Amino acid sequence: MHYDAIILGAGGAGLLAAATAGQAGARVLLLDHAEKAGKKILISGGGRCNFTNMHTEAGCYLSENPHFAKSALSRYTQWDFLALVERHGIAWHEKTLGQLFCDGSARQIVAMLLEECARGGVEIRLSTQIGEIGHDGATFSLGGDTAPQLVIATGGPSIPKMGATGVAFDIARRFGLAVVPPRPALVPLVLGEDAQAFRDISGVSLPVTARSGGASFEEAALFTHRGLSGPAILQVSSYWQPGEAVTLDLLPQAGAALREARGRMPRSGLRAALAEHLPARLAEVMAARIGFARELGNTPDAEIDRAADMLSGLVLHPTGTEGYAKAEVTAGGVDTAALSSRTMEARSVPGLYAIGEAVDVTGWLGGYNFQWAWSSGVAAGQAL
Ligand code: FDA
Repeated sequence: MHYDAIILGAGGAGLLAAATAGQAGARVLLLDHAEKAGKKILISGGGRCNFTNMHTEAGCYLSENPHFAKSALSRYTQWDFLALVERHGIAWHEKTLGQLFCDGSARQIVAMLLEECARGGVEIRLSTQIGEIGHDGATFSLGGDTAPQLVIATGGPSIPKMGATGVAFDIARRFGLAVVPPRPALVPLVLGEDAQAFRDISGVSLPVTARSGGASFEEAALFTHRGLSGPAILQVSSYWQPGEAVTLDLLPQAGAALREARGRMPRSGLRAALAEHLPARLAEVMAARIGFARELGNTPDAEIDRAADMLSGLVLHPTGTEGYAKAEVTAGGVDTAALSSRTMEARSVPGLYAIGEAVDVTGWLGGYNFQWAWSSGVAAGQAL
């Protein structure tokens, strides 16, 4: 069968690209090896899909070219997607930090996208493997199907047990497009030796400022059996590079807090003072790590300052990440230098496009990745 466009991958990006092109009159085939469309949407946001973020702007994305995302994000914004959600009567709420979720279920978002595809007459073929892709310079062929335009929307390899693969990168390379080395992002970090010290407090969570790779995030961190997780850690994990440290500010104004405690409770030890500000088990671990020998009342300023430095700058040395099995997204991907930021079309292969997570544009935690899927999907969809 001949189509105007074949889109590979029925995730968020592929679905919205297909609907956009179909509604503009293009004959579109949307193909996926999964038995259901939008599987990551269904499990996202704890089943409620954090579908966008009110504060979306290009600065919330990592890419070799930090300007690349601007064009698509500005032409199909978070407000455009929200308007679509509202047109479908889907109730939503802001949870925190501009993160918008469905009141009901992520299934509503998938149903909405499928309805939009149906309005555009999109043919969706599930449980279908991508075989050999032929290209004679003008037409792409795939199995018995042909089209002058082919869209790579197969995402990245994060969470392989859900059917995620790195096929996007294989296809891109096959057509000569560069791929920025992919890596797990928004992913828990594994601590080596440091993990021993914190193993006993696995499950403890607290608000911190986490810093690594020049980025810093104020959100919750969670100590785990193997290392660190929680939103603040997932955020910095995208910036962390092997060999670098992660620094946690556990107690802002720690010096002032300890001096105040020294005056008020001079007979107490450091642990008691810390337990007023930190979860009790963490207070115990940090007091042991800091190792004050005396009561607070007999502790000189220099020691208070040393303790404060350790509390506001706990330096940890991750040995790695939990990998694609636990990574919410894949950073890196199809090099943006190979693509038009307006249409997502490959400069060197007319008719070939890449959108969504497959591209080297990776959002922060909090709805930014779906917004990139929507914006880049619409950018390509309008061009097909
Ligand atoms: P996506 O991965 O969604 O779709 C790719 C499609 O291609 C899939 O349908 C897949 O089956 C198909 N495919 C892959 N390989 C194939 C092959 N070899 N042959 C055929 N088909 C193939 N983001 C956010 O903004 N808010 C949130 O709440 C969350 N929550 C969240 C939770 C969890 C657990 C994960 C893992 C991820 C998130 N994310 C998120 C990230 C978000 O899910 C992700 O960035 C988008 O789904 C990316 O959309 P794409 O359409 O680009 O890829």
